[in-house]
Amino acid sequence: MIGVFDSGVGGLTVVRAMRELLPSETILYLGDTARVPYGNKSPETVRRYAREALAFLQAAAHELMLRARKLEAWQPLHTKPDSPAFPSVEGRLKLVVVACNTVSAVALPDLRVRSEVPVVGVIRPAVKRAVQVTRSQEVAIWGTEGTIRSLAYQQVLAEVAPQIRSLGLPCPLLVPLVEEGWLQHPVTDSVLQIYLSQLPSSTWDTLILGCTHYPLLRPALSALLPSSCALVDSSQTTAEEVLTLLQKRGWLAPTHAKGDLLCFVTDSAARFRRVAAQFLGEEPQSVDQIEMTAFQHLIPGGGLR
Ligand code: DGL
Repeated sequence: MIGVFDSGVGGLTVVRAMRELLPSETILYLGDTARVPYGNKSPETVRRYAREALAFLQAAAHELMLRARKLEAWQPLHTKPDSPAFPSVEGRLKLVVVACNTVSAVALPDLRVRSEVPVVGVIRPAVKRAVQVTRSQEVAIWGTEGTIRSLAYQQVLAEVAPQIRSLGLPCPLLVPLVEEGWLQHPVTDSVLQIYLSQLPSSTWDTLILGCTHYPLLRPALSALLPSSCALVDSSQTTAEEVLTLLQKRGWLAPTHAKGDLLCFVTDSAARFRRVAAQFLGEEPQSVDQIEMTAFQHLIPGGGLR
């Protein structure tokens, strides 16, 4: 199982890309819908929420393994004989994907210390793609206030390609517009135009969509931009990164079975179901509401520090 988490429903854009690229993988998805948005919260709060999410996913993987075993449906995970130290304890996640850009921006090092398995964030894969496609060597980044303020994208860009100039812009109005379903709407077009005009340069040729919700605005944005501008979708690049990592380690699920998608949310499952389909491209089969505080004692490394 791969654990994926996000502040809410938006991380399903990453799940969608993963299910297209890795259809045999079973995914446990946690959307912290009771506490969304994370984008305007302090880094300390986001880190605390992220630790709780990690603890929940680890506990859920274990619990599901026990249940599956009882049903005698448990299949040992497939590994190549020469696989490097696969987490061989059954019921562990093999990988955690932080689908949320805001969490990836402020909590990755903290989560990596607390996780026994690799933790993949959305920032580095998107940056690598932007570096490949920019010709003007100017890359714009749109994200939540928290993501842009953290300078995480800008720092990874400076590390990977110091010659590239980065232009970060918080775009807080886009998340509610997407959740409202206003993907092709005059109000959304006006907001997009205002944000485009706020970028402090006109010579950028690559825009990183640094938020789970923005990939849904691709068609509207493409209509407003010259065809020479590249849009980098962090959900797509993250799915590709996960595929590469699983291939390298020999941890891919056997290809004969279709993987399940089990969703867990912290607010009502009904609202999540209503909004989820436009992010996921299909109705989620299984959505359960959970109580996050029930897992706080399991936080690796201890407590609510
Ligand atoms: N998932 C968040 C992100 O990608 C957007 C929604 C929020 O602010 O929580 O940054």
